[in-house]
Amino acid sequence: IYLGPFVHSKSLTELEICENGAIGVDENGIIAFVERDAQSFESIKSEKSEWQDAKTVKISGDSFFFPGFIDTHTHAPQHPNTGLFGKTTLLDWLQTYTFPMESSLSDLTKANRIYQNFVSRTLSHGTTTCAYYATIHVPATNLLANICLQRGQRALVGRVCMDSDLSPSYYRDESVESSIKDSKASIDHIRSIDPSGTIVRPIITPRFAPSCTPACLTAIGQLAAAEDTFIQTHISENVNEVQLVKDLFPDSKSYTDVYATHSLLTPKTILAHAVHLSPEERKTILEKGSKISHCPASHTLGLGSDVSGGFHPSILENCRQAIWVSRHLSLQSAQDSDKLSTEEALYLATRGGAQVVGLEDKVGGFEVGMEWDAQLVRLGVVDEAGNTGEAFGGAVDVFGWEAWGERVEKWVYSGDDRNTVAVWVRGRMVHRTGGYTGA
Ligand code: GUN
Ligand code: FE
Repeated sequence: IYLGPFVHSKSLTELEICENGAIGVDENGIIAFVERDAQSFESIKSEKSEWQDAKTVKISGDSFFFPGFIDTHTHAPQHPNTGLFGKTTLLDWLQTYTFPMESSLSDLTKANRIYQNFVSRTLSHGTTTCAYYATIHVPATNLLANICLQRGQRALVGRVCMDSDLSPSYYRDESVESSIKDSKASIDHIRSIDPSGTIVRPIITPRFAPSCTPACLTAIGQLAAAEDTFIQTHISENVNEVQLVKDLFPDSKSYTDVYATHSLLTPKTILAHAVHLSPEERKTILEKGSKISHCPASHTLGLGSDVSGGFHPSILENCRQAIWVSRHLSLQSAQDSDKLSTEEALYLATRGGAQVVGLEDKVGGFEVGMEWDAQLVRLGVVDEAGNTGEAFGGAVDVFGWEAWGERVEKWVYSGDDRNTVAVWVRGRMVHRTGGYTGA
């Protein structure tokens, strides 16, 4: 039984803040009850005899439970490159930074070091579900899935398909046949280690249209249909890339049309970026029910960190970035409605992301029947002498007069992993810091 304040999204524009919450989680990690006017463990246990022996976690007024974050797009093998890009943008960045790093993960010792570290890092920022791109290597991709399962982070893990000569000869699928055979091998492995798909699931991952030959895209579409898997790829991230797709696929009406005509737009498709889409392309994506990662505009969106194209693994940081980007847009457009609110950003980080990865019935909020994927957020309370509580080191100072909504806002704008003092997936504690004081 988790006793204390909790916060989650009620809708795209509204948070529910419950000061006297009690959430009962059964031995399978499933939320069995949510009370909103709880006084004490004793009063709950006197009403619910079967919870007499329940373990209890009581948090103080400087803390609150929040749903775990969902990162709908990131590249685990690029983690060592985070923050490194010089003056490059997408196409030269891939050649200069990304392909050399990714190809080096043929070394499993190196892959293990990077993947263990990245899973720790994302967990420490409260990411309980993550859609990962791995590399073209089957062993290293399978290792990432093993690590997620062992560490308890929900994940979609994809072996990257790329057979076109956009990729250097040292880092490319040898043929359409080998690309499909290797992808199938990784799908089979991931399904063998977690047959129910509760924690790890495979995701078919054509890197992006320019990385794949038309024959490969066709075969990937067929594989995804035969295996009934999720699909992830990039779309319309920058104008040079959009032009490249026009040149490479002259018979296609648009970037979106390339994916549509290869049966790659399904309700289980996650499209990253989607920045320069025409209204017709947006309509196609909406009709296909495919999901978009990153771009703040409709309720079928989630947030993605896109490490190392993005420079921070934290979804909280990416909430802030989405808000800044929307504010820059509103400076140009003079439309107040372009500004993303705190509530909307948090929705994208939780319930929106859950829709993107097909888990909206299970995670992203605290409802009976959903699962306990949660983070305990702790803020610093300033004492009479002007000191901030114990030295757990977060940057958020709370003076005591702030309304709960203001506390949440302060966390969104100034919080970081020091404030995420514990993290659970399906009731299993998967991360904690010295700042955790729960019983
Ligand atoms: N487009 C193709 N590959 C990539 C990648 O690794 N990162 C990003 N951001 N865009 C891509
Ligand atoms: Fe990406």
